[in-house]
This record gives sequence, C-alpha cells and structure tokens, in this order.
Amino acid sequence: MESRSTPEARNSRVVLVTGASSGLGRATAALLARRGYRVYGTSRQPTPRAGTEWPMLPLEVCSDASVEACVRELLAREGRIDALVNNAGHAFIGAVEETSLQEARAQLETNFFGALRMMLAVLPPMRERGVGHIINVSSLSGAVAVPFLGAYAASKHALEAMSESLAHELRGTALRVTLLQPDGMRTGIGFHHPRTERPDLAVKRRRLVSLLERATREEGNDPDLLAHEVARVIEDSAPPLRIIIGEGAKRLIEARRTLPEVEFGKLLASALHLDTEPATA
Ligand SMILES: NC(=O)c1ccc[n+]([C@@H]2O[C@H](COP(=O)([O-])OP(=O)(O)OC[C@H]3O[C@@H](n4cnc5c(N)ncnc54)[C@H](OP(=O)(O)O)[C@@H]3O)[C@@H](O)[C@H]2O)c1
Repeated sequence: MESRSTPEARNSRVVLVTGASSGLGRATAALLARRGYRVYGTSRQPTPRAGTEWPMLPLEVCSDASVEACVRELLAREGRIDALVNNAGHAFIGAVEETSLQEARAQLETNFFGALRMMLAVLPPMRERGVGHIINVSSLSGAVAVPFLGAYAASKHALEAMSESLAHELRGTALRVTLLQPDGMRTGIGFHHPRTERPDLAVKRRRLVSLLERATREEGNDPDLLAHEVARVIEDSAPPLRIIIGEGAKRLIEARRTLPEVEFGKLLASALHLDTEPATA
C-alpha cells in the first residue's frame, strides 16, 4: 500500500545515501533533495563543491570508526535517521581462479560488510524511534551469478541473505528493509581487476568485461530509474522486500525462478556465448 506524504512531511524526513558522489547514489540524493527530503550524502573524500546541493559527510564503509562518526554526526545534526540508502560499492571483475582471497575479502568488505556496518549503525536509533527504512542497493548479481563476477555476486548474495533475515526479524515493528536489484546502470562504476590474470581465460574475460562495460556505460539503464524507485518505495507504508530494476534483470530473474537449473544454465551460456569461445587467445 502506498501513502503519499505531503511536502512538509518529507521536509522533516532524514535520508542518508551512502556513495552519493557519483552514479546511482548521486542520482538518488539529487531526486530526494528535489522532492524535499533532508538528504545527506556520503563520499570517502567529499569535495567542498559537492556539499552545495545537499550536505556530504565523509564515510569509508570499511572502517568502524568512519561509520560511527558519520552516523553520530548525522544524529547530532538532525536527531533522527528515517531512511538509509545503502549504496556505496564497487565491482571486482575476475574469474574465480583469478581471485585471491585478499581480493575476494576486499570485495566483500565494501559491498557486504560495509553495508552491514551501516545497517548495524542505524538500526539502534531507528529502533529507539520505532520507525526506519533500510534500502540496500543489491544487484541482478544478488540473484544470478554470471562468470567473472563471482566475488561481486557473492557480496550481493550475502547482502540479500542478511537483509532477508533482518526483514523477518523486524516483523511486528515499523522498521523495514528493501533490496533493490538493478540491471546494468549507466554509471561508470569502478571496476577492480585481479592482480594476476590467467592467459587461458583471456578471450572469455575480454568478452565478459566488454559486455559488463557496455551494460554499465552506454547501454546501461538511466540511474534516474533507480532513483525514482527509491523515491517511490520510501513513501510506501508496506514496502516489498525486493524490487527488480530494468527489463533485462526482470526477465533473467524470472527465468532463474521458473526454469530448471540445467535449462537456466543453457540459457545463460547461450546469451553470453560461453560455449562458443576458443579455450585460449
Ligand atoms: N552500475 C551498475 O550497473 C550497477 C548495477 C547493479 C548494482 N549496482 C550497485 O550500485 C551501487 C552504486 O554503484 P554505481 O554504479 O553508482 O557506481 P559508482 O558511480 O562508482 O558509485 C559508487 C559510490 O560508492 C562510493 N564508495 C565506493 N567504495 C566506497 C567505500 N569503501 N566507502 C564508502 N563509499 C564508497 C563512491 O564514493 P567515493 O569514491 O566518493 O567515496 C561512489 O559514490 C553499488 O553498490 C553497485 O554494486 C550498480
């Protein structure tokens, strides 16, 4: 059920958007600010110019001290957090056999533990006031794992699992969790590459990397698509646990849900030309 709040009500609602210096976070913060919310964005290194549209707080989601300081500062300024848009993240592109434990840990440290750190920091003040909405930016990769994105998919699957458990635990309260599962979005998201690449995987990697680059650059969905979903769900008094964003993601997640594993594997292999590549460059 949707409840449209008045501009005055929005004006008093405080929303923290992590990773608001670019891409999806920036588009979301911009739209929410235009709609009248009291928006705070974050960046690891906020520039003075960035804070002119909405206040930007420094935040490194991999640091306990930084997360604590960010939430403390917001509470000192506003006394409340109505919604957290847990968006900060990056993507590691590498085959499983190219991914060191250190690289896998770094991916999960930002995308999963960073998001969890933020949830753990905002839940106490939300519990205290009895209301709050955590909106976690997951991914199509939170539902489907494609080759060369194993560590990224693992980080988003972990975020999905933790959010789903939390949603059950929050039953009977007015606190809510929503997962957004966007398709490729036109943001220029930072790709981290493995320190050691295997020559025998070079052809497949080139194909997959160029596909992912196209999907997150010129062929990606408009970031405003996600921003509008956030603006919609934040107003929803009974928000869904998951929202898929983008037609491609809707089709793929639906196929994942309905097809037998083997059939789904064939469909993905055919879409990504996985069986037609020569083994080596
Ligand atoms: N683009 C896509 O196709 C796509 C698809 C599905 C899901 N997503 C998800 O959407 C989210 C946003 O990605 P985007 O595409 O908008 O990429 P982006 O433009 O690169 O934005 C990422 C944001 O995260 C912040 N960030 C990165 N690492 C951080 C850290 N350790 N601590 C604090 N902030 C950090 C960056 O801020 P600073 O560098 O200023 O600190 C930046 O504002 C990510 O969670 C990503 O996984 C993206």
